[in-house]
Amino acid sequence: MALGIGPLNPPKRILMGPGPVMVEPRVYEALRQPIVSHVDPYFFQIFEDIRALLGPVFGTQNPFRMVISGTGTSGMETALVNFVEPGMKLAVFANGYFCDRISNIGERQGAVVVRLEKPWGETFSEEEAREFVLREKPHVVAFVQAETSTGVYTPGKAISAAAREVDALVIGDCVTSLGGMPVNVDENGIDVAYSCSQKGLSCPPGLAPITCSPRAMERLRERRRPVPSFYFDLKLIDDYYEGQHRYHHTAPISMFYALREALRIIDEEGLENRFRRHRLNHLAFVAGIEAMGLQMHVREPEQRLWTLNTPRVPEGISDAALRRRLLDEYAIEVLGGFGPLAGKVLRVGLMGASSTRENVLLLLEALERALRAEGFPVKASGREAAESFYAAAAA
Ligand SMILES: Cc1ncc(COP(=O)(O)O)c(C=O)c1O
Repeated sequence: MALGIGPLNPPKRILMGPGPVMVEPRVYEALRQPIVSHVDPYFFQIFEDIRALLGPVFGTQNPFRMVISGTGTSGMETALVNFVEPGMKLAVFANGYFCDRISNIGERQGAVVVRLEKPWGETFSEEEAREFVLREKPHVVAFVQAETSTGVYTPGKAISAAAREVDALVIGDCVTSLGGMPVNVDENGIDVAYSCSQKGLSCPPGLAPITCSPRAMERLRERRRPVPSFYFDLKLIDDYYEGQHRYHHTAPISMFYALREALRIIDEEGLENRFRRHRLNHLAFVAGIEAMGLQMHVREPEQRLWTLNTPRVPEGISDAALRRRLLDEYAIEVLGGFGPLAGKVLRVGLMGASSTRENVLLLLEALERALRAEGFPVKASGREAAESFYAAAAA
C-alpha cells in the first residue's frame, strides 16, 4: 500500500517547547533493545533499578515509588482516583490550566471541588494558602508545582504545612519539575507526587512516575469503596510489581528500558549539577530576553520555572508568526500560550537534554531575527547578553 509520507523519516527538530523535549542518543539506544516479557525476572530488575533511581530525583525516602503506564495525565488520574472518593472535599490551588484539569478529574470522581483562584502567572502566599485550607478543611489538597501553562513554580511547603493542620492529604503535580528542578517531595510535605517521562527526564512520552507517602498509603488501606478505575488502582499495580508479580497489565517494556537509561544519565550527571545547569541556562535565557526589550510573564524571578520559560510576546506581534519562523528557519519548536495567555506568551522548554548553552544561544539568535522580521525594534542582541551572562557566571 502506498502511504502518504513514505518510509518513516521524521523531520529533525530542536524541541524547546513544553515537552516532549530532546531525547539523549543513549535513551534511543535503550529503546531499540529486544524486549523481554512483562513477567520476565529481567523486567522486574529493570523496574527495581527505576524505583531506586527515582528516590533522589523525587527527593523522597518513600518506599512506595511506582511507574504508571501512561502519560502525565495518567499520573494525575491515578492520584485522584485512588485518594479522592465521592463526597470528599478537594481543595485545588488554581493558577493555570493543569489545576483546572485536576479539578475536572476530581469532579468526575464525585468530589466537592473548592478552588482558590489566582491570575495565570502568579502563585500563592503562605497566608493565602493557610487561610484557604483552614477555612475549607478539605480531605485532599492539590496543587501544581510547575505550572506548564504559565511558567510559575510553587514548591508546596506552605500548602502542605496548612494541609497537615487539618489532616488533609496533599497531591502535587510535578510533571514539569521532575528531573530539572528540586521537587523535594519529603521536605515540601507532598503525599502524592506524580510526573511524566517526556520533560525533565528527557524520555519519549508514555510513562508517569509516582510516589506516595506512608500517610497516603495508610489512607489507601483505609479506603472502603473499591478504586473505580481498574487500570489505575495502585493496590493492583503494586501487586504486579511487588511480591507475587500478579498480572495486571502488559507494561510497555521498551519505555521502561528508556526510563531506566534516562535516570542513569541523571544519576551520572549528579542532581546538583543538573539543577545548576538548568538554572544557569534559564537565567542566561532571561538575560537575553530582557536585553532584547522583552519581559518575562512571571514577574518574581524566584517564582519562575527553570524548566519552562514564558517570555511575553510584544504588543502587536503575532506569536504564531514568530513560532512559524523559528520552525521554518531554525527547526526550533517552541509553543505559544493558551487560555488567558493565548497570543501573549511563548512557552520555551529548557529541560533535560534541551537545556544547553548551545540551544539557549541559538534560540535567542533565531528569536531576534524573527522579531526583527515581524517589525519589533529589538533593543540589543539577546545572544550577546546571554554570552556575557555565561562568561560572568564562569568567572
Ligand atoms: C503540569 C502538567 N500536568 C499534567 C500534564 C499532562 O501530561 P501529559 O500531557 O503527559 O498527559 C502536563 C502536560 O504538559 C503538565 O504540564
